[in-house]
Amino acid sequence: MSKLWGGRFTKPTNKLVEEETASIGFDQKLMEQDIKGSIAHVTMLGKQGIVSEEEKDQIINGLKKVEEKIVNKEVEYSVANEDIHMNIEKFLIEEIGPVGGKLHTGRSRNDQVATDMHLYLKEHTEMIIELVEKVQEAVYAQAESNVETLIPGYTHLQRAQPVSFAHHLLTYFWMLDRDKERFKDSLKRTNISPLGAGALAGTTFPIDRHTVAEELGFDKVYENSMDAVSDRDFILEFMSAASIMMMHISRLSEELVIWSSQEFQFIELDDSFCTGSSIMPQKKNPDVPELLRAKTGRVYGNLFGLLTVLKGLPLAYNKDMQEDKEGMFDTVETLEASLQMLAPMIASMEVKTDNMKQAVSQDFSNATDIADYLVTKGVAFRESHEVIGKIVLHAINNNKFLLDLTLEEYKDFHPLFEEDIFTVLKPEEVVRNRNSYGGTGQKQVIVQLEQAKTKMSR
Ligand code: ARG
Repeated sequence: MSKLWGGRFTKPTNKLVEEETASIGFDQKLMEQDIKGSIAHVTMLGKQGIVSEEEKDQIINGLKKVEEKIVNKEVEYSVANEDIHMNIEKFLIEEIGPVGGKLHTGRSRNDQVATDMHLYLKEHTEMIIELVEKVQEAVYAQAESNVETLIPGYTHLQRAQPVSFAHHLLTYFWMLDRDKERFKDSLKRTNISPLGAGALAGTTFPIDRHTVAEELGFDKVYENSMDAVSDRDFILEFMSAASIMMMHISRLSEELVIWSSQEFQFIELDDSFCTGSSIMPQKKNPDVPELLRAKTGRVYGNLFGLLTVLKGLPLAYNKDMQEDKEGMFDTVETLEASLQMLAPMIASMEVKTDNMKQAVSQDFSNATDIADYLVTKGVAFRESHEVIGKIVLHAINNNKFLLDLTLEEYKDFHPLFEEDIFTVLKPEEVVRNRNSYGGTGQKQVIVQLEQAKTKMSR
């Protein structure tokens, strides 16, 4: 098969080289964007009188026909035609004859592929932002119905102070909100048109880059043609935002795994999000959060892969840059699937409020509150801390919790203890009293829910 660039060559390409250098195996994912970009380009060529109106119409109709044939699998991609761009151009020439060869006037595959990538990532970033919002909605709904549910709050994975379960869940709402902001911000850099940069230096034809950019929905054009074809930092930025978000999702997943364990039994994941064991009949495994935790690794890997590909490249285009694609597609697809599973998994999980409550009552996470109690009676916090430490030790040695001690026992440690200590120590009170702004007290959690609501577009 003759190459679109065959003129200068005297020998056919080595077969293995042909297979290994071709990108059609993966860049066919850019088919729609490539056709869209070509239609915008040739529309501009027509407007500028670079091709005739008739030629422009022939090419546009041809491109639409080619798209239809590709979708209906009436044509087959070939490795000999290297990539999606040349495959489509070949199909076009087959479809409408030599006039199809005019499409590539004033354009190079270098600005073409960059345009396709920008278009693809723009569409998918927008989709991902919507999917993040769906997860936020699921988190919000669970939080809203669990304001009064108490759960041990941990530091060092040791019980620290009880919190409202809504407060714990909303932490993820805010993390996801910042993730969403990062994606929105990265969109500003993705929303720039490289088209018309040519191979690297611009073109001799009187093209109009601005109208093409507008036609394609871009905010602006790259100011420098070499930058336009060399830049992949819009992908890196997306991948960085993706990595940070997956880190958040991984932490949430880890908690879901822990909470659904026999040891904790704080939640039960819906059967439809778990799988069984081929040998142990009793098993119900939290595969989905485990996999989400693991998928984080490939998203980080894709970011580091591309950073490494780009780091030593001289300007402008280098074939190395073809390696930007698989990682980007993989990150996009991983994120979309992860978010799509996460939202319904959170929405459908059962919160075992009784087990959480029992955990909260059977620990020493109210110890800070007795320390604060003595402080309100005039004792210095450091001294109070020391006294309470001794009380905790005494309780542990006697196999009791703080609420099980008698007032006499308390008075043995400090004369300022009174009967009201038993109210202060109740987990509900412990949580309710943390009424500082952003704290876990239910009043504050309700304020937080209101704030969160304003962050959801629907
Ligand atoms: N398949 C190539 C890529 O993805 C398209 C650009 C090719 N340009 C070139 N000068 N060989 O990067």
